Amino acid sequence: MVVPGGKAGGRDGGRSALRMPLAAPSRLRDLSATSLARWRTGLREFDFVLGGGLVPGSLTLIGGEPGIGKSTLLLQVAARLEAAGRTVLYASGEESADQLRLRADRLGEGAGAVHAIGETILEQVLAAAVAVNADVLILDSIQTVATESLESAPGNVGQVRECAGLLMRFAKATGTAVFVVGHVTRGGSIAGPKTLEHIVDTVLYFEGESALDYRLLRATKNRFGPVDELGVFSMTEQGLEPVTNPSALFLAARAAGVSGSAVTALMEGTRPVLVEVQALAARAGYGTPQRVATGLDPKRLAVLLAVLDRRAGVSFADLDVFVQATAGVRLVEPGADLAVAAALLSSLNDRPVPADALFLGEIGLGGEIRPAAGIERRVSEASRLGFTRIFGAAKSLVSIPGAELVRLDNLSDLVRAIAA
Ligand code: TYD
Ligand code: MG
Repeated sequence: MVVPGGKAGGRDGGRSALRMPLAAPSRLRDLSATSLARWRTGLREFDFVLGGGLVPGSLTLIGGEPGIGKSTLLLQVAARLEAAGRTVLYASGEESADQLRLRADRLGEGAGAVHAIGETILEQVLAAAVAVNADVLILDSIQTVATESLESAPGNVGQVRECAGLLMRFAKATGTAVFVVGHVTRGGSIAGPKTLEHIVDTVLYFEGESALDYRLLRATKNRFGPVDELGVFSMTEQGLEPVTNPSALFLAARAAGVSGSAVTALMEGTRPVLVEVQALAARAGYGTPQRVATGLDPKRLAVLLAVLDRRAGVSFADLDVFVQATAGVRLVEPGADLAVAAALLSSLNDRPVPADALFLGEIGLGGEIRPAAGIERRVSEASRLGFTRIFGAAKSLVSIPGAELVRLDNLSDLVRAIAA
């Protein structure tokens, strides 16, 4: 380790040679234990994903594809914060202040009090934030600003990193809460959010199929709150509306009595959310049958197909297989395995699963069905929405009032249960 001042002065001289201003360390117990101050926006899902509101002095990245709604969301946030008595500066390198005004008018959120500036030089943006004494600074986007200290063009990796570093220092030094927008493309190719993730305090991703009228906000990193919380918004002419019952929304488009559909309950952060898994097994054309998974790791699908074949004697070898989760939701949890298998079997037999069935469990390589974590919370969410027949691991199942439990030891049990 290199110590400033070095050891050159010898044992004793080393100390006096350390000409650093001393910020005296404190014992942790002597530091005031007041909980973090948080500014609520009142946009319920947004506050929830942040961990209960915005932390002063924090730097938050909002990533997402162009057109997904980042600017809309942040302008709404700005309006809400202004209404709550915070001073907000919305700096845009993408739109002029006049364009922002038009957007604000369309939102009908009363964003009139928000300060706006169209600017691409970071130093100017920071000066403007200081000039209006902003509590909150929104910078849209990191790819369109540049610091004067570097020659390179905006969007260049060096610029993006340097600007993020400056914003972080600004946030910490002034206590301003800073949001920065970062565009990502489907390929994730451009310099942006990925380079920034380790610099910022909090990373939010805003996603959703652009054709559908709802959007998901997810925290993938949060120094001040839990990660993986999911916020759900619906898109309207007036902007984004928090969705009170995401499960109902995700299941709204579900057609009753159709084969190849099964519902599971995922834990999204601390909340259970019901999602539909759809599968279609169709006679393959020439060549290798296709396996297409959307919202599910293709490798996981391959594993499940192999286990179904070897452990339950159900082969999809000559069939094209397509599996998808309710658009935008990802089945990363192993607890969703059982629903994927059920949807596959249902499609293969062309027989719908019972309308009130919920599938919850992980499938092992031996074909055994293992309990999913947090089953009570999931089942209570499910029964609220009328899913009262719970297919799950024989071992896990505790008794849950109002729900019938179908106990499964292995995949063969599932095959029988679904055919019954
Ligand atoms: P925008 O916020 O500009 O996306 P981004 O900043 O991520 O590129 O939104 C894209 C378009 O969608 C814009 O024309 C406004 C429209 N829109 C709505 O009409 N309602 C909404 O709720 C949202 C989010 C967007
Ligand atoms: Mg935008």
